[in-house]
Amino acid sequence: MSSSRPIRIAPSLLAADFARLGEEVAAIEAAGADWLHLDIMDGHFVPNISFGPSVVKALRKHARMPFDVHLMIAPADPYLAAFADAGADLISLHPEAGPHLHRSLQTIRALGKKSGVVLNPATPVGVVAEVIDLVDLVLVMSVNPGFGGQSFIRTQLSKIATLRGMIEASGHDIALQVDGGVTAVTAKDCIAAGADVLVAGTAVFGTSDYAAAIAGLRG
Ligand code: DX5
Ligand code: ZN
Repeated sequence: MSSSRPIRIAPSLLAADFARLGEEVAAIEAAGADWLHLDIMDGHFVPNISFGPSVVKALRKHARMPFDVHLMIAPADPYLAAFADAGADLISLHPEAGPHLHRSLQTIRALGKKSGVVLNPATPVGVVAEVIDLVDLVLVMSVNPGFGGQSFIRTQLSKIATLRGMIEASGHDIALQVDGGVTAVTAKDCIAAGADVLVAGTAVFGTSDYAAAIAGLRG
């Protein structure tokens, strides 16, 4: 399947220099990033700790691009308002993070933000059908969440293709994002399978030329 839909690149701040976050955010926007992907990890839902809403808020003034907040925390519900207030434009969460995904997505929308559901590599696509009228984004994890720099799990390509079909059939305007191990090589496979937002940490922040890295991911 080839695609003519616009491809958006969302660099993951997890791979940036944490001692220079404000400069990194400004630099990545100047380099052509479409969104900034912010990975929130609690050391409980995933075996790593990153940063919280106060860091998101501090970074908000350093860029105009949408802030795409990927919550890897459980429970997530008590923190949704804090991330909305901090400047998130889109908040996505995992079904496994709480007992009432439908309610969590309603809450994000009620806060005036775009909402996303995230599928781990072993999470089936069926959950998306139950909430398709409540999501602006579906995120396919192509690594197990928790760390940058992992290898792309190729079995997730067929999941991306299945979800592309579900989204088209729904008639809704829903972004299809992929996150984990995205490189200039795997990006082509993701786009061919139907993804239209690519998250990349190492493949962008791990290079010395952010603009070239972002351009390379667009294919
Ligand atoms: C992993 C995060 C990813 C991560 C991607 O849990 O959700 O966003 O930063 O890093 P790379 O692109 O290095 O695989
Ligand atoms: Zn992420």
